[in-house]
Amino acid sequence: MKTAIVTGVTGQDGSYLAEFLLTKGYRVVGVVRRSSSERFERIEHLREKITLDEGDLLDQSSLVRLIEKYEPLELYNLAAQSFVPTSWSQPVLTSEFTGVGVARVLEAIRMVNPKVRFYQASSSEMFGKVREVPQKETTPFYPRSPYGVAKVFGHYLTVNYRESYGMHASSGILFNHESPRRGLTFVTRKITDAVARIKLGKLDKLKLGNLDAQRDWGFAGDYVRAMWMMVQRPEADDYVIGTGVMHSVKQFCDRAFARVGLDYRDHVETDPAFLRPAEVEHLCGDITKATTVLGWKPEVDFNGLVDMMVDADVERHSRGN
Ligand code: NAP
Ligand code: GDD
Repeated sequence: MKTAIVTGVTGQDGSYLAEFLLTKGYRVVGVVRRSSSERFERIEHLREKITLDEGDLLDQSSLVRLIEKYEPLELYNLAAQSFVPTSWSQPVLTSEFTGVGVARVLEAIRMVNPKVRFYQASSSEMFGKVREVPQKETTPFYPRSPYGVAKVFGHYLTVNYRESYGMHASSGILFNHESPRRGLTFVTRKITDAVARIKLGKLDKLKLGNLDAQRDWGFAGDYVRAMWMMVQRPEADDYVIGTGVMHSVKQFCDRAFARVGLDYRDHVETDPAFLRPAEVEHLCGDITKATTVLGWKPEVDFNGLVDMMVDADVERHSRGN
């Protein structure tokens, strides 16, 4: 049986990737951090189907041990401190988790078995203050946060291990992808969760930062499929994954509130507390390479994504959760 190790399995993408790999017949080993209380909500439904084992991107030997123990064919490195604002308040920790952590994983593979195929969760945040529109694999990076800088480090390290050691190491440059499992601090989920509470009379106002920021939002379930497709290619490479369509935070609000028959202008307020020291104003992916080389394309569009997230939050809050 093929074994895949997934770091970050408790996160949004980790949970969708674990589900997807199970459908492909893999034994899935999810790496979890030791914590005083378990927070495995996103993978609760998979607990009997996957193996969970302890490891931390801060601990080199834990990563070596996991690769020795499970002898994986593939390793997907999804673990990171992934919230951009936290990268300003905790820049060193973000650099360690999101940047140097990649070096620890790559070194563990190189030391134990350099034939293990590797996927690195790179990010459109690397484009930051964008140098061209839309952004593709060759667009120069201009990160605008400690998070973006750490991801650039991880990306180039992946490229270097591929070129220096011949490792099958691919970097997926993924644009924003969301789902009902998205963390509550990210803007999409913050909006859909508030929409549900406002609709049910549990909240009146939603405070947001920059409503004019534009993102290329897709569905996480579509994007984990692209990760796997990259790893199956004969040669490792870098791929931009997105939808090629951009919307503003305001447009997201408009659609989300309209889904439950409300006007966002009656409920959304701006609050400078949610503005960032440096903003990434607009991101939009050119997915030509992914569509032509991988044969990948997204299945859920913007409206479908917003509706899916609003409906899930309304349902959850209606149950009292
Ligand atoms: P997420 O929901 O924040 O999940 C992050 C995961 O990383 C969690 O499982 C977390 O574990 C784990 N983690 C954090 N620090 C760790 C450490 N030191 N050791 C081991 N595990 C650690 O993120 P996501 O949205 O699923 O994103 C997955 C990856 O893709 C991340 O690397 C992110 O930066 C990148 N990415 C995401 C997007 C997007 O739009 N979602 C776009 C581009 C790139 P705990 O549960 O223990 O905290
Ligand atoms: N979080 C948040 N909260 N963002 C807000 C708010 C708010 O109240 N108001 C406006 N925004 C704007 C942000 O300023 C940003 O321009 C945009 O909404 C998206 O913010 P997030 O949802 O926090 O995502 P992100 O784009 O910063 O980062 C996400 O996508 C990256 C890929 O481009 C994360 O998932 C990263 O891990 C990922 O790499």
